Amino acid sequence: MNIILLGPPGAGKGTQAQRLVDGRGMVQLSTGDMLRAARDAGTPMGLQVAEIMKSGALVSDEIVSGLIDEKLGSMTEAQGAIFDGYPRTAEQAASLDGILAARGRTLDHVIELEVDEDALVDRITGRYTCAKCGTGYHDRYAKPKVEGVCDTCGSTEFKRRPDDNAETVRTRMAEYRAKTAPILPIYEARGLLKRIDGMADIDHVSAAIGAILG
Ligand code: AP5
Ligand code: MG
Repeated sequence: MNIILLGPPGAGKGTQAQRLVDGRGMVQLSTGDMLRAARDAGTPMGLQVAEIMKSGALVSDEIVSGLIDEKLGSMTEAQGAIFDGYPRTAEQAASLDGILAARGRTLDHVIELEVDEDALVDRITGRYTCAKCGTGYHDRYAKPKVEGVCDTCGSTEFKRRPDDNAETVRTRMAEYRAKTAPILPIYEARGLLKRIDGMADIDHVSAAIGAILG
């Protein structure tokens, strides 16, 4: 099974992808996570994209499609893929078709998390992750069971993303509206698009995704 999770910044793509990884053994392909890893490792590509990411603009289609192709190449045929934050432009959507075809994979579902933009700033500015294992949390909506201790690995160190501030979020949303939302009709025309209410609580969103995947 190969699926795309689509939605604006803070819609819950990463949160739901993490649950699918835990529950179904699928593999999350988050271009945002891959770019942050390259940036933190200080690779030439990472240094090149750091400023762009900080501004909330999109990095080049070539870079992200290259990352996706490489990651898919490292997976076994049996492993399902969850595309999280990719594709984000019509060019990336076309590249993904080619990348999947070359590897004998087909796209099963494109799931759009429909959300109210006003709520997203609140979600994003409250977000943090475990510094050790990356498990995601929120100051109010997804707290660890024991305050200050990661549920997954027990670490007590957490971090916040530099682009998770109210100003950059506005740029990221504008990029989504201008460049990513226009790819939804492409998938709708192919009968792949499923829309779900991303404003429901995290468990309800997971249940809605589970109902689509079967
Ligand atoms: P990326 O990392 O993909 O960021 P994004 O798309 O802006 O999405 P987010 O990760 O902010 O949101 P999410 O939907 O994953 O939400 P989450 O589950 O964490 O990209 C970052 C940057 O990298 C881009 O700006 C760009 O520069 C570059 N980039 C990446 N991919 C690219 C590409 N393909 N092309 C070009 N450039 C690219 O949830 C948010 C918070 O809300 C969490 O705290 C969570 O606990 C909480 N939450 C989640 N669901 C719910 C719910 N149902 N109710 C209440 N709270 C919830
Ligand atoms: Mg994310």
